[in-house]
Amino acid sequence: MSAPERSTILGWGACVPETVVTNDDLAGLMDTSDEWIQKRSGIKERRYVDNDDGSVGLAETASRDALNRAGLSPADIDLIVCGSLSPDIDFPGNSALLQRRLAISGPMAFDVRNQCSAFLYLMAIADQYVRTGGASNVLVVGSEVHSTGIEYADRSRHVTVLFGDGAGAVVIGASPDSDTGFLASDLHSDGRYVGALCVDGPGSRRKPRVPDGWTDTDIYTYPQMDGSTVFKHAVRGMTASVETVTASAGFSKDDIDMLLPHQANLRINQLVAMGLGIDDARMANNIDRYGNTTAATIPILLAETLEEGRIKKGDLLCFTAFGAGFTWGSALLRW
Ligand code: UT7
Repeated sequence: MSAPERSTILGWGACVPETVVTNDDLAGLMDTSDEWIQKRSGIKERRYVDNDDGSVGLAETASRDALNRAGLSPADIDLIVCGSLSPDIDFPGNSALLQRRLAISGPMAFDVRNQCSAFLYLMAIADQYVRTGGASNVLVVGSEVHSTGIEYADRSRHVTVLFGDGAGAVVIGASPDSDTGFLASDLHSDGRYVGALCVDGPGSRRKPRVPDGWTDTDIYTYPQMDGSTVFKHAVRGMTASVETVTASAGFSKDDIDMLLPHQANLRINQLVAMGLGIDDARMANNIDRYGNTTAATIPILLAETLEEGRIKKGDLLCFTAFGAGFTWGSALLRW
């Protein structure tokens, strides 16, 4: 069988933990307030896991959901690609652990470490594999458990209030026709900004990797972020990337029917939309309920927007994201 002209999303799924953590709950743990968090980020609440079912547990539920919607079984998957900055264990990556849970042995599985933009990179990889005949049905998964890796203390409040747990997945395979599916992607990275958002350790340049007493004295195992630098680059990077990806496929930003941006800060997304001339009716956001779930924001948002009936056949969808690295980009898909 020859490789298809286009790949598309055949199924989608999402999973968020049941436990809701409000801004007031966090204000009981550190010096912050519901008013500050809502005003600066748009977040009202987020979900936290309440058991030891880590990012792979959430990934499994989202994946089974996506497989069901695609009408496929795990045995039909010939490539699994996963993104997570909060893997269950240090190595091997979540893709191998998820593969074990889904009882798929043999086919390719690998991980991409691109934080908030991971899902865009993963979809671009899946698209390439399908269009070059390297795989038929690719399971693409973003899953995170942040709640066990952030610090509930004043010095980390600007980071901790932003993040939540969750997972999303899509199955990417051959598009039934050449009009629908992925039309273009635009991906970037700029390693000069590693220090603006990172978790420094544990890492191989430290000996021992986790020194005694680190929790009391050292912040290096918790995320460190220069929020305003990330904010400015995110607005600029996503706006420019959406313009590039639409132009590269012969469209204009006015042709976008639904913008599905990464959920890091509602104000970032509003500025991106304003720069592009996209109104609320053409943009989806759900950060108010989940916070930033990093690699999982885009598939969770896609699943919800579809469920709400806000996407119809033939719509031009644009996904965009920005995050640590910095890495960022966009993808264009005709639904
Ligand atoms: O997915 C990609 C990863 N992350 C992002 O994209 C995040 C990008 N950055 C942001 O979203 C924003 O920069 C933040 C939400 C992190 C911060 O918002 P901001 O408007 O840039 O606030 P700021 O950092 O300039 O801080 C303003 C004030 C400071 O107090 P002073 O110096 O004015 O007295 C902070 O100490 O707000 C204080 N502050 C807080 N106050 C209450 C910082 N965090 C908090 C907090 N609660 N959680």
